[in-house]
Amino acid sequence: IADVQDQIDHELISKTDIHKKIDEVAAQVSQDYRGKDPLLVAVLKGAVNTMVAFSQAMSIPVQMDFMSLSSYGSGTSSSGTITVRQDLSTDVRGRNVLIVEDIVDSGRTLAWLVEELKRRGAQSVEVFALLEKPSRREVDVQVKYKGYEVPDEFVVGFGLDYDERFRNLDSIAVLKPEVYQGEQA
Ligand code: PRP
Ligand code: MN
Ligand code: MG
Repeated sequence: IADVQDQIDHELISKTDIHKKIDEVAAQVSQDYRGKDPLLVAVLKGAVNTMVAFSQAMSIPVQMDFMSLSSYGSGTSSSGTITVRQDLSTDVRGRNVLIVEDIVDSGRTLAWLVEELKRRGAQSVEVFALLEKPSRREVDVQVKYKGYEVPDEFVVGFGLDYDERFRNLDSIAVLKPEVYQGEQA
């Protein structure tokens, strides 16, 4: 099996730029949530890398929890159905929740989660998404804290996978076509 770097066509967002953006958002969120005892909720598995960098960049104490959701199977296109693979261990009632996501694609995962957390009685629910693919948006969902917009390509790295691989890349990159041959974008 080839090294990660050998399967990358080109880099979209460097490690430095990712962390610069995350640091900026974390400074803003630290200011906005001062005194609000925020609960950060990361959507597993893709948001893990963003959650780690983001939470460490925040200057106020936060609580963290994780929810494993999947809108994709092993392929590359959204199935449209949200599956809960693992639930939160925190009661969100009355909490100021900030969802941390790696990417908003169709918007279905986020739209479902925002509604679900409100249904459970969260006092507020906002979203930080490191990436957005505006061209693929199907469902309207408000993202208060935004990172970068990316084109509709096979984007991997910093938590984003292709068939469960490449999450460990420390930058955001586009795969070589031969890696996903046979699949449809
Ligand atoms: C990806 C990504 C987002 C979601 C975005 O997760 O991490 O959570 O899809 O797609 P949507 O806007 O069309 O809903 P995925 O379901 O692949 O699970 P993963 O995080 O474990 O990779
Ligand atoms: Mn995900
Ligand atoms: Mg995925």
